[in-house]
Amino acid sequence: MDWLEKLGFTGNPFFLEPINSSLKGFVDRAKEKDSLEKCIVTKKGKYILFGSTGLGKTSLLNIIEGYAEESNFVVIKTDFLHQQSKEDFYNQMIRGLEGIVEQDAKIKKKIGKSLQESKIVGRRKKRGKGIKPEISTKIGAVLLEFAIRVVGEKEEAEEVELFVQPYLQQAIEIFDESTRIITEVKPLVIISDNLDKLEEKTYRDILKTIVDGLPGHLVFLTTGNYTHLSLGNVVLTQKVFDLTIDIPGMETISRLREFVDGRMKTFVKDGTTPIHFPDNVLKVLLEKTRGNLRETFRYCFGAIIEHGNKINRSNMIETIKGIDTVLIKSIGEKNKDILRAMQEKERYTLVQLSSLTKIHKKTLWGRIKNLIQLNLIIKESGGMGRGKEDKYYVSSVVKEIID
Ligand SMILES: Nc1ncnc2c1ncn2[C@@H]1O[C@H](COP(=O)(O)OP(=O)(O)OP(=O)(O)O)[C@@H](O)[C@H]1O
Ligand SMILES: [Mg+2]
Repeated sequence: MDWLEKLGFTGNPFFLEPINSSLKGFVDRAKEKDSLEKCIVTKKGKYILFGSTGLGKTSLLNIIEGYAEESNFVVIKTDFLHQQSKEDFYNQMIRGLEGIVEQDAKIKKKIGKSLQESKIVGRRKKRGKGIKPEISTKIGAVLLEFAIRVVGEKEEAEEVELFVQPYLQQAIEIFDESTRIITEVKPLVIISDNLDKLEEKTYRDILKTIVDGLPGHLVFLTTGNYTHLSLGNVVLTQKVFDLTIDIPGMETISRLREFVDGRMKTFVKDGTTPIHFPDNVLKVLLEKTRGNLRETFRYCFGAIIEHGNKINRSNMIETIKGIDTVLIKSIGEKNKDILRAMQEKERYTLVQLSSLTKIHKKTLWGRIKNLIQLNLIIKESGGMGRGKEDKYYVSSVVKEIID
């Protein structure tokens, strides 16, 4: 019997990867799920799911992907995480199309025929020469691969050539024509995670592509974390999408409990919660993680490894301290000094902090920004307008783990 079984579990309730339709443990999110499902079944439109880090955007997207497949949609799944340009965007779209033609012979035949007839891709009897330059760029290679898929078998590969230049234009034409054909057969949804991970300028380019370039006869669904966006880009985003759906933050202890207990209940035989996380423990977790479920589950897992089913506030603080040791060490003494200086009062403005730490405002702001990202400092937005200043503070948990 392994240690998890001894505690009463059938598996690890606090795994960290995003949930998908074949993984157990998805808790609640009924409201957002329902809204997304309703958007999908309209078979067209552009939708964005907003939520801060670790709240469950990717998981919800995965669940919706499962729903779309069940509802007989064709799904293209991509991620903006590693995309840097419009070309990357179309690269991924063409790769998605490749997956579809692989799976559906009827769609493959139709696309092949249409692209050949419209002279977008086809067989020009010119062997060897002329192929090489085509595959010298990344998107060229992706397109060639696609052309081979739709119009020829592998051994004919060398004869397949793409007729139209330049590549990006070609990719767009192939994409438009293919999605038009697919939606004649089945509804299509493009699901793409992490829109907020794009660089600020690329973000605007891609939004423009989404507005001008995406056909109206399909569903486009993506996710974003608005805290990563500039105000200008938030406003632009609101304009581009038909609907923005927001995953509300984890505001209360009882809300966080639904997720912690919900996960445990899925991994027991009788639907009980084998371990009790007292309210003051959940309060510590909420303060430390700001509702980031990934972080919360990491600490929960650390706590049950170290303390089994006897979890209390002080041993949870010890666990957090242990897990954060490397992080706290790696931020360096200067940053630690800032955190130590913030122990006294409740809240500070940047000016107050600058005079307190004797660090120039500009340098200080750089450091504060990093510490906010690491969840060690919390920013309280003062809102817009004259005299409205942002304030900063450290949570009591952070005070306890900084020596
Ligand atoms: N509805 C849910 N029920 C239970 N656990 C969940 C749920 N949604 C997410 N989780 C868990 O929370 C953690 C974070 O989820 P996920 O990766 O989906 O968040 P995210 O919002 O995409 O994060 P990021 O902003 O870092 O991309 C994971 O451990 C995941 O398994
Ligand atoms: Mg995610």
